[in-house]
Amino acid sequence: MTSFLDIHTTSPEDLRKMIDSARAMKDARNGRPKGALDDDRPLAGHMVALIFEKPSTRTRVSFDVGVRQMGGQTMVLSGKEMQLGHGETIADTARVLSRYVDLIMIRTFEEATLQEMAEYASVPVINGLTNRTHPCQIMADVMTYEEHRGPIAGKKVVWSGDGNNVCASFLHAAGQFGFDLTFTGPPTLDPEAEWINFARSKGVDARIERDPYKAVDGADLVVTDTWVSMHDPESAKERRHNQLRPYQVNEDLMARAKPDALFMHCLPAHRNDEATSAVMDGPHSVIFDEAENRLHAQKAIMRWCLGK
Ligand code: CP
Ligand code: NVA
Repeated sequence: MTSFLDIHTTSPEDLRKMIDSARAMKDARNGRPKGALDDDRPLAGHMVALIFEKPSTRTRVSFDVGVRQMGGQTMVLSGKEMQLGHGETIADTARVLSRYVDLIMIRTFEEATLQEMAEYASVPVINGLTNRTHPCQIMADVMTYEEHRGPIAGKKVVWSGDGNNVCASFLHAAGQFGFDLTFTGPPTLDPEAEWINFARSKGVDARIERDPYKAVDGADLVVTDTWVSMHDPESAKERRHNQLRPYQVNEDLMARAKPDALFMHCLPAHRNDEATSAVMDGPHSVIFDEAENRLHAQKAIMRWCLGK
């Protein structure tokens, strides 16, 4: 039993196994009703706690559906309504939940909360997003790229906008799956140097290019995300919008990428801010495949965690 806390702390071999297993599970569901149980029901008899300290649509629904398809059961818990939100320590919460459930998924603010949960839980813990990373999303994104275009290794990915938690996990994936990543955005919103250095340490080209048009030149995949994340203060909104406007992904920018380039956004999106509707609904976009693949990728992650 292993926790899935981050892409850079999971071996490339295991990450690859998870992508392959997600693909096989997706294929096996083809043509079946969405609510049908998987034939092997690997989570039969298993209870999974899904803890949310921030809002969610995709993570919440895809984990819940994924567990049920595999024959398990879930309970969705809001951090605010738990004793966790009223002063009980993370460590004690982890110890108690481990007596009841077989797996814990948590979406939280500080990375330290996730780490403490994993340290004190005696069951696997999955990172459903922190202020710093969002590994489940990028597993779905790698799966999505590969189902449309084949192996992602050696490809050029461009991240345009805020160097946030989703960007961080993309940099981790660059190192582990062997693709190049160019970040383009304003200097105050650069991704952490640690994440760029991680990718570089694995021998891929991870770089910063301030000019979005130069950055996107020759890109196989262009990615963006909201300009204001859930953990960012509302007061930063106007400044961020002003800084990030030149990095909007619009048809002009996409035209500089390779003709067969894909466009991704983890959603939720603020249409016509970070990306125009013309791009989001256009021929390069695979945003709803990404959302669907959260389900398949996380089923593979849960199986890996539980050794199933
Ligand atoms: N992409 C993503 O994690 O979406 P939710 O916030 O809706 O879960
Ligand atoms: N960067 C965004 C991702 C949401 C899925 C946030 O943290 O709010």
